[in-house]
Amino acid sequence: MSEFSAQIAYNSIKDRIPFRPEVGIILGSGLGDFVKTLNPVATIPYREIEGFPVSTVVGHAGNYIFAEYNGIKLVIMQGRVHYYEGYDTKDVVIPIIVMQKMGIKTLMLSNSAGGISDDLNVGSMMIISDHIASFVPTPFRGVDTALFDGRQFHDMSDVYKQELRDLLRKAAEDSGIPVSEGVYIQLTGPQYETPAEIRAFKKMGADAVGMSTAIEAMFANALGVNVCGISCITNKAAGLGGKLSHEDVTSAADTNAEKLSRIFLRFLELYKDSLS
Ligand code: HPA
Repeated sequence: MSEFSAQIAYNSIKDRIPFRPEVGIILGSGLGDFVKTLNPVATIPYREIEGFPVSTVVGHAGNYIFAEYNGIKLVIMQGRVHYYEGYDTKDVVIPIIVMQKMGIKTLMLSNSAGGISDDLNVGSMMIISDHIASFVPTPFRGVDTALFDGRQFHDMSDVYKQELRDLLRKAAEDSGIPVSEGVYIQLTGPQYETPAEIRAFKKMGADAVGMSTAIEAMFANALGVNVCGISCITNKAAGLGGKLSHEDVTSAADTNAEKLSRIFLRFLELYKDSLS
């Protein structure tokens, strides 16, 4: 069993949570720009949360940030932990369980990814329509089924909700940002892929590749949270462009974070309208 615990984590911060957030947002590495446009009402560093996994990656911030935009209460994860850091996938989803305990109904995911499809280049934005997570260990194995009202088996036929994908597409259009839609494949990392792997994943139907997100999406889906996500393409996948480096990936994410931020802000306006 994991040394990390969602219940202990939640209990240790519940008095510091300023409100019941409606929407959770996870900002991938280098995509933290979004927070700059908001006025946070509270910040909880992950390292102050008991039983919470903390990122070890250089350049990955680690905070829950609470803010309101356009009347929507938000909890934003500035940074996440990854399987490749040595955590089990069961630990990777603890922050998701904690946000569900806070009360989120909707989860917006983001990541940096390598573009496999011909039309995905550095700076492209891809709405995630579905994922392939078969190459990473499931976070559900041996997990306490009480989290899911006793259910052990989880339907994954509709993880990324069509209504939310429609809102993301409209938000990108309204912001003048070209966007496509496609399948994201999560791999364990931390090594980047070989060209042969990328050719194989392309045949399987993957459009973009990364080291996060699918595990979080599947877990949130099983918890009854409505999920959507966007990949910010930071590089052509292995064999389709030049050599890959973490520095190039993070600097491309930095350059394009502002696009993600505009799409998310417009999304929240449209989301608010869709509720009324
Ligand atoms: N592969 C895996 N993860 C990534 C990539 C990639 O090409 N780019 C950004 N994250």
